[in-house]
Amino acid sequence: MTSSQDTVDLFDAAFIRDPYSAFRKVKGEGSVFPSRMEGVGTVWVVAGYAEARAALTDPRLAKDARHARGSFRDLEDPAGQEDPEFVMGRHMLSTDPPDHTRLRKIVSTAFTPRRVEALRPRIEQISRELLDALDGRDTADLLGAYAFPLPITVICELLGVPDGERDSFRTWSNDIVSDADFERSRASVRAILDYFGDLVAVKRKRPGDDLISALITATDEGDRLSERELLSTLFLLLIAGHETTVNLIGNGMLALLGHPDQLAALRADLELVPQAVEEFLRFDGPVNLATARFTTEEVELAGARIPANTMVLVALSAADHDDRQFDDAGRLDITRRPGGHLAFGHGIHYCLGAPLARLEGQIAIRDLLTRFPGLALDASHADLEWQFSTLIRGLKRLPVRLR
Ligand code: HEM
Repeated sequence: MTSSQDTVDLFDAAFIRDPYSAFRKVKGEGSVFPSRMEGVGTVWVVAGYAEARAALTDPRLAKDARHARGSFRDLEDPAGQEDPEFVMGRHMLSTDPPDHTRLRKIVSTAFTPRRVEALRPRIEQISRELLDALDGRDTADLLGAYAFPLPITVICELLGVPDGERDSFRTWSNDIVSDADFERSRASVRAILDYFGDLVAVKRKRPGDDLISALITATDEGDRLSERELLSTLFLLLIAGHETTVNLIGNGMLALLGHPDQLAALRADLELVPQAVEEFLRFDGPVNLATARFTTEEVELAGARIPANTMVLVALSAADHDDRQFDDAGRLDITRRPGGHLAFGHGIHYCLGAPLARLEGQIAIRDLLTRFPGLALDASHADLEWQFSTLIRGLKRLPVRLR
């Protein structure tokens, strides 16, 4: 059993800046340990690679907190009305089988790898336009000017959100993932759901060649998404599809610019980009602890006994730095083949958007390197500010010199 000192303070500024060192310190003691989370109390963190994989496939770790409390009754709207939190919880990432199986199957018939691949020319065009806008400039914030607008534009186009109505999405989406003001985040959830409600009504009357229209009619053996499930799924796709990909590009470019030998190797052979993107995901992936699950009974993992009804956070970042799994895991090496990294999760909730994220990441990294041969970091590592979020890992800004 781990003593109270052998833990990680999840709300410490040092942890936000460098979770890897914090995890390395405790990992000598155990890969599974308790910590505390504001508003929740004791949570258990799973930081070893093998243990993380085991946890992510363990049916005793439920996504739906109600299952942990022993209440398996059919999901009902607790307030008997359209409570935003209730609607929000009807998507695949907050449900367990059989609900999860059903939702994922229906959504997968519309959100197909073919639909994603068809987006390639459009993503390349959006990327080109964003980079054109930087022509002639000496410096830029790579996040604000490129890594943020690229995925939000792509996800809005994929869903069928009309141009000109996309700006608010960025603010709403940001409010929700930052550990900021709870009321603000709630208001943004409501705003997104209201917006999608109206848009779905429009698409029902005039379907287009977009994912919302496809999800409205998506069926699995005659079974369809209810209105609430549809809204909840759109909400998930927007948040999951945006906040993570931004940081794949941001964290990936930061890693590369901080390792001149790796940068030179990649510039010399752009065929390595797909494999480099996998290494960026492993080395400094966008998801930190956004993997909450709840124990439905006492669970023993790596010698630790996690009580029933307890929140468990699988630390994907720590697992992907486990030396038992990856040689010299703390070293960035774009020539390694980090197959089996956990940045997209594992098991039944494995990221449904991974093909899209990979496509966007590969296009972005290749375009940035091709367009700016002199690209360099314009800040010391110590001056870089990280978003204060325990869920995702990403910078606030990434100042660069463009030439
Ligand atoms: C699930 C990571 C991009 C849609 C997940 C999970 C992770 C993840 C770790 C599982 C969480 C858990 O098990 O608790 C990432 C990363 C991305 C990315 C690192 C970018 C680099 C996207 C994109 C989309 C997307 C672009 C869609 C547009 C989803 C969905 C799920 C999911 C729908 C839920 C799957 C399920 O519950 O069955 N993602 N994601 N993600 N992601 Fe992603």
